[in-house]
Amino acid sequence: MKATWPLLVCLLCHVTLAWAFARLSEDVEQRSAFSVARTNSMEGGPKMVVSFDKVYVNIGHDFDPKAGVFRCRIPGAYYFSFTVGKFPRRDLSVMLMKNRNEVQAIVYDENAGEERKVQSQSAMLQLEFGDTVWLRLHGDPRYAIYSNTGHYTTFNGYLIYPDTYSFQEPVHQEASRDHENEAVVLRDHDDEAREDPKNKEDEEEEDEEDPRSAFSVGRTQSIVGVDRGSPEHQPISFDTEFVNIGGDFNMSTGVFTCQVGGAYYFSFNAGKLPHKTLSVKLMKNHLEVQAMIYDDSDNEKALQSQSLMLTLRRGDTVWLYSHQRDGFGAYSNHAKYITFTGFMVYPDVPSQKSQQPRRAMKP
Ligand SMILES: *[C@@H]1O[C@H](CO)[C@@H](O)[C@H](O)[C@H]1NC(C)=O
Repeated sequence: MKATWPLLVCLLCHVTLAWAFARLSEDVEQRSAFSVARTNSMEGGPKMVVSFDKVYVNIGHDFDPKAGVFRCRIPGAYYFSFTVGKFPRRDLSVMLMKNRNEVQAIVYDENAGEERKVQSQSAMLQLEFGDTVWLRLHGDPRYAIYSNTGHYTTFNGYLIYPDTYSFQEPVHQEASRDHENEAVVLRDHDDEAREDPKNKEDEEEEDEEDPRSAFSVGRTQSIVGVDRGSPEHQPISFDTEFVNIGGDFNMSTGVFTCQVGGAYYFSFNAGKLPHKTLSVKLMKNHLEVQAMIYDDSDNEKALQSQSLMLTLRRGDTVWLYSHQRDGFGAYSNHAKYITFTGFMVYPDVPSQKSQQPRRAMKP
């Protein structure tokens, strides 16, 4: 084990540097990002696409603000987030759409109250060339979104991982030539194989790791807390997989397990059930609460959102917990109010890791 460390660290450096360099040099070709806002309100009607008139960022010009449509030019995994304002005395229903009619996630607030407020949602989507992504306001005039020159309503998206990482094959071919290589290279090209957990278990050490890790999942059913004799802390499980690059998120258990140490971004959203308190916590490992959302208002049927970046080590788990007591719950349906997204922002640079055994060898 000890003897392999210098070699391992070298490999990791090599891979990480190559990765960073590739990202730089491919930047021009592989960049896609937009951030837009609306300066006025919009009422539900036949034209349901939410358009935008203020453009902050439009790298690659993949977003058409007038049409309100993002069109994928670079196939890959994209992170989208949006915030919409609720119009006084109107309901709010805005869906994140893929192509013509594939609902991905929703923002909803149906109390039609006086108040103005904002609601947010986010998800990562795997897109092919030509796929479109847009926001759909409910077509009934009972629904409206509020915005003004203060920009209540915003929409962002950017490419996290392009599908082709051309630099990876040379790196792997140079770095090592054993049979495990095959599995790793395969994972770059084949979604099925990439999600196969067996590939992970067969890897002995981190030296072969694909540094990419991203998941985005949705849940189409509500969660209702019930009193149990002994409180079990069951993670929220999910039934819709948008993205699971690296296969680090286990759909049946609802648990993300870190395979490559680094900084990870997480965001989650959940709907509130009428007459139930919404309490959803972002957990790390056993029961370490990292962040939470909470709403104990009575009638509201609305969303709450939270996001956080965590430093994770290999083996750390991250999951969501909805308080499992009577009187608590979270709302969702087929439109997916409950979503959970996480992706690696930066892998650790091995020489700077404080927990490395090799650090102890330094004077
Ligand atoms: C998910 O976790 C369960 C329970 O630990 C395990 O049996 C299953 O193989 C895992 N699935 C994947 C895809 O890793």
